[in-house]
Amino acid sequence: MNEPRKLHIKSYGCQMNVYDAQRMVDTLAPEGFVETAAVDDADLVILNTCHIREKAAEKVYSELGRLREAKDEARRAGRALTVAVAGCVAQAEGEEIIRRAPVVDVVVGPQSYHHLPQLLARARQDGRALDTEFPLDDKFQHLPAPRPDTIRARGVSAFVTVQEGCDKFCTFCVVPYTRGAEVSRPVKRIVEDVRRLADNGVREITLIGQNVNAFHGEGPDGRPWPLGRLLEHLATIEGIARLRYSTSHPRDVDDSLIAAHRDLPSLMPFVHLPVQSGSDRILAAMNRKHTADDYRRVIDRFRAACSQIAFSSDFIVGFPGESEEDFAATLALIEQIGYAGAYSFKYSPRPGTPAAEMPEMVATAVMDERLARLQDLIDRQQAAFNAAMVGQTVDVLFERDARYPGQIVGRTAYLQPAHVLAPPDIIGQVLPVAVDRLERYSLIGQLAGPQQIPPRSASASPTVSTGA
Ligand code: 5AD
Ligand code: SF4
Repeated sequence: MNEPRKLHIKSYGCQMNVYDAQRMVDTLAPEGFVETAAVDDADLVILNTCHIREKAAEKVYSELGRLREAKDEARRAGRALTVAVAGCVAQAEGEEIIRRAPVVDVVVGPQSYHHLPQLLARARQDGRALDTEFPLDDKFQHLPAPRPDTIRARGVSAFVTVQEGCDKFCTFCVVPYTRGAEVSRPVKRIVEDVRRLADNGVREITLIGQNVNAFHGEGPDGRPWPLGRLLEHLATIEGIARLRYSTSHPRDVDDSLIAAHRDLPSLMPFVHLPVQSGSDRILAAMNRKHTADDYRRVIDRFRAACSQIAFSSDFIVGFPGESEEDFAATLALIEQIGYAGAYSFKYSPRPGTPAAEMPEMVATAVMDERLARLQDLIDRQQAAFNAAMVGQTVDVLFERDARYPGQIVGRTAYLQPAHVLAPPDIIGQVLPVAVDRLERYSLIGQLAGPQQIPPRSASASPTVSTGA
């Protein structure tokens, strides 16, 4: 093959985009592409976009403006720079992207990126190529498996998509339109992926899906398996020290998932369970199909199964028609639950979604003020949660060298970064850390016991950061 071509890929938005970006790299490796961190010397730039909120799409268009200059410059230097837009903006906007940003050569939706090699060839021939189909076949069956060296370079923590798309149609959300109908991967394929990752030094797996606990992939017995059963099975794979899943919907929490939290020590007691609002009126207008009390009961079931469990959530402020009273109900719910952290957003109308047509838009100034109050409350809860770690001994999965020489950084069960002074061979191990103090969001401490788990022969490269 000729000299390797260089690929720069920039991902926006959710963890699934991070995962998809890696799979795009895997897809293009057999075509002679190697990844580069620098846009400047790339032959191909892929923007892997997010459409969930307005700013994300706008960022893509301004990035494309910058790429136009880079493309002109490359042309003057006698090189060709190919620009591709992938992900949910590609899906939602389609040809509009090429109209608005003629710099773009390839547009590819989240369900068709396994066609990237053919699309690049078509773009070379015809000048442009677009694929935003929802193919009937499963893209995962067409994607090459990541190679051992790539897995190792990506670190000790990895994402695995188990479910994709969403049939819930919350009235504010574009996901059902951009990612399509809900589909689950068969258990056998997920197990193969996790085994391959474990064999190459991965210690922590996060199962991802837009609605991950709606998972119902076909099990080896030919019957659909719920997420709890899948987790139970994955927990038996040698080398996997930690399991997580994200993002779940309160309506799909079933007994199998609760039992998994009760029974599996490797299932981390940290659950991202978005509620969006604490007002029943707004929850109904959002088509969430549950009340605030239903949500409280789900939280209680988790807590009854696992006493150390902690939660994070997503909130939207300023959904159309949200009154001060509705917002007060959200704050009250947050007070009651007590979160370890949360993401909060101002409502952003998404074209084509029902909420975008609703009257009673909340004024921007009101949204700003509510967002600030909500974030202040969450910040205080998060600070208290982190402060409670000081003086305790907590298990940390060590991931990589920290910025300070001699320090290694890992994560606790609750994804808090934890730093210790230690030799790099602790990377890939779960070790107890006595936490001395907090530095902003990071825990600082020291190793508190003997190294419990012998280093794996294929342990991950210490110099490369992980996705999580
Ligand atoms: N406006 C604001 N926030 C939104 N989210 C999804 N759609 C919108 C929207 N139109 C938020 C929700 C969701 C998270 C991923 O993004 O809180 O859980
Ligand atoms: Fe969007 Fe609602 Fe589906 Fe989550 S459950 S992806 S918010 S439609």
